[in-house]
Amino acid sequence: MDRQRISALAHADHPIAAPLSDNSVSRLLGRALRDGTERILDLGCGRGEWLLRAAEERPGVRAYGVDLDADTITRARQVITAKGLGDRIALVAGDAGAYTAEAPFDLVLCIGATHAFGGLLPTLEAVRRHLAPGGSVLVGDGFWEREPDQGTLDAGFAVDEFADLATTVDRVVAAGWTPTYGHVSTVEEWDEYEWSWTGSLSRWALDHPDDPGSGAALGAAAEHRTAWLRGYRRTLGFVTLVLRRTPDDKEGSERPVSR
Ligand SMILES: C[S@@+](CC[C@H](N)C(=O)[O-])C[C@H]1O[C@@H](n2cnc3c(N)ncnc32)[C@H](O)[C@@H]1O
Repeated sequence: MDRQRISALAHADHPIAAPLSDNSVSRLLGRALRDGTERILDLGCGRGEWLLRAAEERPGVRAYGVDLDADTITRARQVITAKGLGDRIALVAGDAGAYTAEAPFDLVLCIGATHAFGGLLPTLEAVRRHLAPGGSVLVGDGFWEREPDQGTLDAGFAVDEFADLATTVDRVVAAGWTPTYGHVSTVEEWDEYEWSWTGSLSRWALDHPDDPGSGAALGAAAEHRTAWLRGYRRTLGFVTLVLRRTPDDKEGSERPVSR
């Protein structure tokens, strides 16, 4: 069974592919969508769930999304059309790094997809060419809640993949961005996400014992559950930031106070 099918089944009950509750998603969108926000772009949009929610909440918004996974984009288009939003949300299948659009965007999102650009800071650098002057960014990425132990490394992570939260935010600020809001996913949000991921996939496998992919699906769910429970649970964090460019003459004014 290929990775895309596993991911589609695993996210059946948690369409946002990140450890964020519905309340957190609404609050973050509420902070990121400012008065006058008209055009928004989601890089690595997955099922387009952020764009759907933004378009439903803001009738004036036109939304664009790009994702490498063509099957996911096809399914997302069907959902968007069924909801009557096909004229306001346009999705394309392709590499977010190669995405070109006609005009800048008031808000650019990249949630859980910074690996598409090689990490958080390269993502923010890439976002700049899409961003209208004064525009906002909504970016979600991992950080280390604590030093990764062997279980976390065995789950496939590298120590230098992330930094602690304060260092992560310092790096973003040093790159010329000002956080205007942020959310750190709680352990409840993580548990809900991971139980949904592993549980939905397992349930599908048990409900479809004759499907040739059911054994692989059960195996993938078990492997993921072990990597989470014996590995990165309470070690890998997830932070979602609302950012705006720091004016050039103000850069450096937020340097951390040394103690
Ligand atoms: C963890 S999911 C997040 C999806 C979505 N942002 C969300 O919050 O629900 C990461 C997504 O990034 C996409 N992706 C990975 N590399 C990409 C690339 N180079 N260009 C576009 N999308 C990419 C994957 O296909 C996947 O849908």
